[in-house]
Amino acid sequence: MYKIIDGKAIAQSIRAEIREKVVTFKAETGCEIGLAVVLVGENPASQIYVRNKIKACEEVGIKSYAYYLSAAATQRELEDLLLSLAKDDEINGILVQLPLPTHLSDKALKLIPDCKDVDGFSEGNIGRLCLNLPATVACTPYGVMKILEYEHIEIKEKNAVVVGRSNIVGKPMAMLLMNADATVTVCHSKTKNLKEQCLKADILVSAIGKPKFITSDMIKEGAVVIDVGINRDENGRLCGDVDFESVKEKCSYITPVPGGVGPMTITMLMYNTYLAALRSRN
Ligand code: GUN
Repeated sequence: MYKIIDGKAIAQSIRAEIREKVVTFKAETGCEIGLAVVLVGENPASQIYVRNKIKACEEVGIKSYAYYLSAAATQRELEDLLLSLAKDDEINGILVQLPLPTHLSDKALKLIPDCKDVDGFSEGNIGRLCLNLPATVACTPYGVMKILEYEHIEIKEKNAVVVGRSNIVGKPMAMLLMNADATVTVCHSKTKNLKEQCLKADILVSAIGKPKFITSDMIKEGAVVIDVGINRDENGRLCGDVDFESVKEKCSYITPVPGGVGPMTITMLMYNTYLAALRSRN
C-alpha cells in the first residue's frame, strides 16, 4: 500500500505556525517583517509565481514589496534596485524571480547580502550548507525535507537518489540528504545507468523537468518517491517527472503533482523570511 503525501495540507499547517510566529515577532519588536519581490519582464509562469508569493505573504502577515521592472530593464537598473533594497532596514528578505530575461546576468544576485538571501542561492549560503553550518536553505529542497519530517520518514542510513543537479534543487537537495546521514547518489543527463541507480533508491527525489520520465521499472519496491517536477503532459495537463499512476503501486510514499512539493516551496520562502527577520533582531 502506498500513501499519497498531501503537500497542501502540510504547507497549510506550517503556514499557520508561521503566522503565529510572525504575530509574536511583531508584538515583541513593534516591527513588520518585509519581503521584497523583484520581477523583471513578463514571463507568464514567473508572474503567477510572484503573485502567489505575494498572496502567501498576506496569509502569514509578512509585508510584501513588489518591484516590477520592464523586460527592457538594464543590468544597471536591476543592480541599483538590489543595492537600495540591501540597505533598506524595512526589507528582511530579497527575492529576484528567476529566470531573468536573457540580456540580464544572474551576477546581479551577488548584490543580495547573505542575510537577506531568502532563496538560499548565494555563494555564502550554499557554502555553509555544504559545510553543514547554519544556512538559509533553498526553498524547494527545504520543503522536501519538511515533507519527509512530517511523514516521519527515516533518512539516516538510507540510499537516497537525487535525479537532477541544478543549483536551485538537485545540489542543495543532495547536501541536505547527506547532512541527514543518507548515502546520496546524484544522477543527471549524462548519467549512463540511470535505471540501475534509481533502483537502489530508498528515497528518490526527481527534479529534472521531464514529464513522466521516471517509470515504475526504475523504482524499488517500497521506495519513497518525491516529485519536484512541474511539467505539462501531451494533453497540456500539469504533471511531474514521475509517471504517477504506474509508480505509485510500487511506493510506500509518493508526492502528487500538483499538490505535493509545490505548495511547500512558497511556504519555506515565508519561513526563510521570518528567520531572516529574527536574525536581524539578534
Ligand atoms: N524560479 C524557479 N524557482 C525559483 C525559486 O525558488 N526562486 C526564485 N527566485 N526564482 C525561481
